[in-house]
Amino acid sequence: MPTNVTHSRILGTGHFVPSRVVTNDDLSQWMETTNEWIMERTGIEERRFAVPGVDTTSSMGTEAAKRAMEAAGIEAADVDLILFATLSPDYYFPGPGVQLQQNLGCRTIGAIDIRNQCSGFVYALSIADQYIRNGAAKYALVVGAELHSAGLDLSTRGRNVSVIFGDGAGAVVLGPTQESGRGILSTHLHSQGEHATELALLGPSTREWVPQILERNDPDDVSYFPYMNGNFVFKHAVVRFAEVIEEALQANGYQASDLKLMIPHQANLRISQYIQNKMGLRDDQVFNNIMRYGNTTAASIPIALSEAYAQGRIEPGDLLLFAAFGSGFTWASALMRW
Ligand code: UT7
Repeated sequence: MPTNVTHSRILGTGHFVPSRVVTNDDLSQWMETTNEWIMERTGIEERRFAVPGVDTTSSMGTEAAKRAMEAAGIEAADVDLILFATLSPDYYFPGPGVQLQQNLGCRTIGAIDIRNQCSGFVYALSIADQYIRNGAAKYALVVGAELHSAGLDLSTRGRNVSVIFGDGAGAVVLGPTQESGRGILSTHLHSQGEHATELALLGPSTREWVPQILERNDPDDVSYFPYMNGNFVFKHAVVRFAEVIEEALQANGYQASDLKLMIPHQANLRISQYIQNKMGLRDDQVFNNIMRYGNTTAASIPIALSEAYAQGRIEPGDLLLFAAFGSGFTWASALMRW
């Protein structure tokens, strides 16, 4: 175990997206929508959908994790802890953390499944950070992966939800650093269960299991598709994003102008732009890739991070901020010195 650990640091990033590209025009073949509507309201041009029979949440998470481990220069045997954030696991239970442990050939280490939707990756990072800082783990694998496409209502009835989501996975390896001032500086987690059903998938669940849904035989039953009160979520998102970004900056004595890069959860390009304006950030200080991948909930920040790093947008010493908001409601941020 490391000694004199001061902080945890991201040692490697990786991502995986399915090969199947679904454009807005593709969606308009299945539902009444248009490229113009989707572009104007969300900024999304295309997203990836899992290839049926090939991609699963755990398989995409595994590929992203392998790439992050390679970038970090560690082997499966080095990993001490797995954190897997998703709202779309392969199975109702067990969660995908154990599948990742098996797929990678890790030791019989702890595998924690995180259920915090769009904020899941930042929640997972926050937990991994604590384990590393207190010396209980040296290397943690933090993964966010989602497979939305199989569970969306791709008819006109579900269009206000279905057009924004996409599939994919991202991962980081977190490890210790003794370099003063480097690594994760602080994380900030929040929740407000009062709004739990404003963005939710309610069934099947232990409140109403599959036989009861089938027995109802109601063609208008949408309980097994995600529901989103879009306007309501949007209004809360812009407030909470700004709050939690400000909280992270203030906790460390920084201002928005000090940021090299902010990577917001890719909820909607309009939300990112609103936040950017509100915080007075330049275009080069905010990373967005929702145009190509849609909203991949827990996977969006690690996919964006992996791409930003690959594009040379992040260098040692840069101040970096992650911020997320989504179903729960939950919201969270993490500030780090790369
Ligand atoms: O990831 C975490 C959290 N999620 C978010 O942060 C998402 C937040 N919400 C949003 O991004 C937006 O609410 C959406 C992009 C999802 C929807 O945009 P909106 O401006 O809130 O649209 P709306 O649901 O209020 O619908 C406006 C109109 C309606 O028509 P009428 O009633 O005005 O005639 C809808 O029926 O647009 C219609 N509409 C569509 N038309 C074409 C809704 N979805 C579509 C669509 N294509 N896909």
